[in-house]
Amino acid sequence: MTAVDAVSIITTKRDGGELSDAQIDWVVDGFTKGAVADEQMAALAMAIVWRGMTRRETARWTNAMIASGRRMDFTDLPRPTVDKHSTGGVGDKITLPLAPLVAACGAVVPQLSGRGLGHTGGTLDKLEAIPGWRADVPVARMREILSDPGIGAVVCAAGADLAPADKRLYALRDVTGTVESIPLIASSIMSKKIAEGTAALVLDVKVGSGAFLKTLDGARELATAMVELGTDAGVRTVALLTAMDTPLGRTAGNALEVAESVEVLAGGGPADIVELTLTLAREMVAQAGLDIDPADALADGRAMDHWRAMIQAQGGDPDAPLPRAKHTEIIRAERDGVLTRLDAMAVGIATWRLGAGRARQGDPVQFGAGIEMHAKPGDSVTTGEPLLTLHTDTPEAFSGALAALENSFTIGTAPPPQPPLILDRIAP
Ligand code: URA
Repeated sequence: MTAVDAVSIITTKRDGGELSDAQIDWVVDGFTKGAVADEQMAALAMAIVWRGMTRRETARWTNAMIASGRRMDFTDLPRPTVDKHSTGGVGDKITLPLAPLVAACGAVVPQLSGRGLGHTGGTLDKLEAIPGWRADVPVARMREILSDPGIGAVVCAAGADLAPADKRLYALRDVTGTVESIPLIASSIMSKKIAEGTAALVLDVKVGSGAFLKTLDGARELATAMVELGTDAGVRTVALLTAMDTPLGRTAGNALEVAESVEVLAGGGPADIVELTLTLAREMVAQAGLDIDPADALADGRAMDHWRAMIQAQGGDPDAPLPRAKHTEIIRAERDGVLTRLDAMAVGIATWRLGAGRARQGDPVQFGAGIEMHAKPGDSVTTGEPLLTLHTDTPEAFSGALAALENSFTIGTAPPPQPPLILDRIAP
C-alpha cells in the first residue's frame, strides 16, 4: 500500500520510484480541486521532468486529467470521427484546408483547437481573421454542425470543462520550467484529444529548428508515447514526423495564412502545403475506415464547398475581404543566387514580433500582421528581388522583426538538397 499524500508522492518520484494508480488519481484530482498546492504540483512536475514516467503511469496520468472534466461522445453520429493534432510549427495552417477536405471525404472532424502562444501561431487566431467567425461553439451546436453531411467539420475552442487539470497544470509548467518532459507533453496533448471524443487521430509531430522538438529522436519518442496513449485509450492513433526547419508554405501570420489555405482549397497553393494536407488527409481517411482518395475531393471543389459551409456555420463570411496590415517593409536579395536556407524559428519570432502572436495568454493579436515569403529554399533569386514582405499595423515592430531575421537566410550558388517533408511514420 503506497502513501497517498502530496509529500510522499513528490518524494517517491524524486527518488526515482513509480507512482501507484491511487497516488496519480489522488494528486491530479487534488490539484484540480485546489487541495494540492501549486508549489507541490510544481515540485512533482520537476521530479517527473528528471525521473520520467512509465507507460502505465503516463496512461493513468492522462486518464486522471480526462476524468477531471467532461469527456465528449460522438459515437452516435452516423459517420466516423477523426481528428488531427499538430505539435506546432511556423506557417502551419494545415488544419484549415485539411478539416473541410476530410469532411468532404465523408468523415466527421470534431477539432477542439487552441490559440497561439510564442512563435507558433494558433489555429483559432487564424480563423478569427475571417470577419464574423466565432471560436466558441456550444456542444449542442457542435453536434448539429457535425451531423450535417454538407459541413461535417468544426474547429472551435475547448470549453473550460475539457481536461481542466491540464489547463491548470500547463499554466503551472509554463512558469516553472517543466514543459520539457515527454510524458507530461504527451499526456497534456492526448488528454485533450481523447476527451474531445474522436474515434481516430492522426498526429503531426514537427521536427526541426522551428519546432518544439529539434531532433528526430526526441520527436520519435514523443510520437511513440502519444500513439501508445491513444491506442491504450481505444483511439486509433498514428503519427507522422514532419520537417520544420523551414516555414510551411509562403506565409506566416493569421489572415495571410487563411488566404493561402483558400488558394489550396481552390486547387493551387504552395507544393509543401498541398503535399502535407493530402498526406495527412489520406492517413485520416484510412483511420476513419473510408476508401476514398482526398485528392479527388480537393480537385473537384468538394473540399472548398465544405470550407465555405464550415466557416458560415460558425458565423464567418467566406467572401469577406480579409484584414490587411497598414504597413509593410520589404527585405530584398543582396546578390544573385539560390536561396539555400530560410530558418523557421527566425521567421516565427519575427512574425510574432510583428504582432501576429501573443506573449501572454489573453493578449490580442493583429490579424493582418505576418510575413510573406517570396522565395523558399531552392528558388533562384536576383539582386534587388523581394525575398520577404513584413506586414504590421504597428511600424515600431519592424526593428524587432528585422533583428530576428538577421542571418535567417542564406543565398548560395548551388541549389540545396531538398530534404523530405515526411520524415517517419509511427503506428501502434
Ligand atoms: N502542447 C500542449 O497542449 N501541452 C504541452 O505540454 C505542450 C504542448
